[in-house]
Amino acid sequence: MTITDLRTVGADTSAVHFARVAGHIGADVSGVDLSRPLDREVADAVVAGLHRHKVIFFRDQHIDHAQQIAFARNFGPVTASHPYDDDAPTDFPEILKIDNREYERKFGVKAASYTNEWHTDVTALVNPPAVSILRAGNTPVRGGDTSWTNLAAAYAGLPESIKELVDGLRAEHRFGGRHPVFKEGSNYGDKVARTPLIAEHPVVRVHPVTGEKILFVQPGFTSRIVGYSRRQSDALLDLLFDEVTNAAYTVRLRWREGTIAVWDNRATAHLAPGDVNHLDVARVLYRTTIEGDIPVGVDGASSVAISGEQFIGS
Ligand SMILES: [Fe+2]
Repeated sequence: MTITDLRTVGADTSAVHFARVAGHIGADVSGVDLSRPLDREVADAVVAGLHRHKVIFFRDQHIDHAQQIAFARNFGPVTASHPYDDDAPTDFPEILKIDNREYERKFGVKAASYTNEWHTDVTALVNPPAVSILRAGNTPVRGGDTSWTNLAAAYAGLPESIKELVDGLRAEHRFGGRHPVFKEGSNYGDKVARTPLIAEHPVVRVHPVTGEKILFVQPGFTSRIVGYSRRQSDALLDLLFDEVTNAAYTVRLRWREGTIAVWDNRATAHLAPGDVNHLDVARVLYRTTIEGDIPVGVDGASSVAISGEQFIGS
């Protein structure tokens, strides 16, 4: 493939262009104005580009909460902000404010986001969001970058013998994964204890649009391999997390005002930064999520809820 091919491969239309920014994942999108409703052809191109590139980046898009929600609807029904969050802006219950200064109050620990580990959004739900859209509010002068990894590439890179093993496995997902994050007695600690969300997902899910096999585990939520002893589970999860977080499969974004990132939450994990927690800086981002389907494994078996209901959008 030539360099020209690499720059234009994707779902280009006459209006929309995708320029890859890393080897396995990520593209910059141009030719789209997110402050206006998208034409059908443009919206279809953006959705197709998302499925191909897994995370897409828009720059210099200065939009507000209502415009972000309107843009999000191109990807499907928009959910409420978060199953545990109750301080979305009054007029915009779909908006989750991610503010490093507020998480210490909520969690009882310093954090830039829900977790500073690699994670896929809210896989403690039986139907984790299909897509997440994150818009820059206040961006720090330095630090606070977000990284994403391609979970289809992580699966594809496994040796055949490990693929055969993990194709038939299922794993439990809960907040904090193997290491609960919320301090007992904190705002979130209480909510998680009162209404736990726990789901069992296939370790390898089949993407409903692309048909790709996705290595659907990450340290933020995956707590154990079902049917394995603790030691067996930890050993295998350590190996799989190493693959998922292999830098070769990742892309890293420097936020600035007007930046918007959209990721396929069914095919990626991402890492909130740990490098701003010691700085006296404000890092504010606004997230919306799209209702997800219930994952299906290689054997056709679906995820099940151990505790909690489906998270439905409108
Ligand atoms: Fe996240």
